[in-house]
Amino acid sequence: MLITVEGLDGAGKTTLISGLTEQLDATVLREPGGVELSERIRELVKDPALTVDPRAEALLYAAARAQLVAEKLRPLLDGGTTVILDRFIDSSLAYQGGGRGLGVEEIRTLNEFGTGGLTPDKTLLLRVDPEVGLGRIAGREADRLELAGGEFFARVAKTYDELAAAAPDRFVVLDATQPPATVLASALEALT
Ligand SMILES: Nc1ncnc2c1ncn2[C@@H]1O[C@H](COP(=O)(O)OP(=O)(O)OP(=O)(O)O)[C@@H](O)[C@H]1O
Ligand SMILES: [Mg+2]
Repeated sequence: MLITVEGLDGAGKTTLISGLTEQLDATVLREPGGVELSERIRELVKDPALTVDPRAEALLYAAARAQLVAEKLRPLLDGGTTVILDRFIDSSLAYQGGGRGLGVEEIRTLNEFGTGGLTPDKTLLLRVDPEVGLGRIAGREADRLELAGGEFFARVAKTYDELAAAAPDRFVVLDATQPPATVLASALEALT
């Protein structure tokens, strides 16, 4: 079983996942990352000092994802392990497809090529207004994507909502303004 956790920066994805792993027997991986090549791509793509064209950005995320799937995710799933992924394809659809304006379907095609069409069984979408999420992580050093403007995040949030509405069987939409324990309880209820 593949469970993905999605949502804006600061929505509480990592917090929710650490709660889930106390209750579920699952391997946790993050995106971009999880294997050496993808962790190195993560450093590149998040570096505020680099100029990264939107198309290059989309390709870098897709490349990191392709390697993660081939090297680790596919083998784990084939071996019967439940995997919880901190971000997956829907992040690219929302951030590069919606936020950067490259088009959701274009980014979907790119990522289907990269992953061989792997689709999550369940996707937990932590729904929060961009200002709330960004406010929660304001104390951290911002990465390159977090420095994009408010209109960018509004488009990302809108695209996430559209993706969830289009795939209601896969998506579980959680109100991420609730306290962490409430969000965790709702997530567990949806998964079991
Ligand atoms: N439900 C919540 N209510 C209030 N604060 C929360 C909630 N969930 C997480 N937080 C806090 O918000 C901050 C961001 O949480 P977290 O790192 O889990 O978000 P994230 O979605 O993983 O962010 P990023 O996209 O940057 O990885 C942390 O300080 C965390 O303690
Ligand atoms: Mg996180």
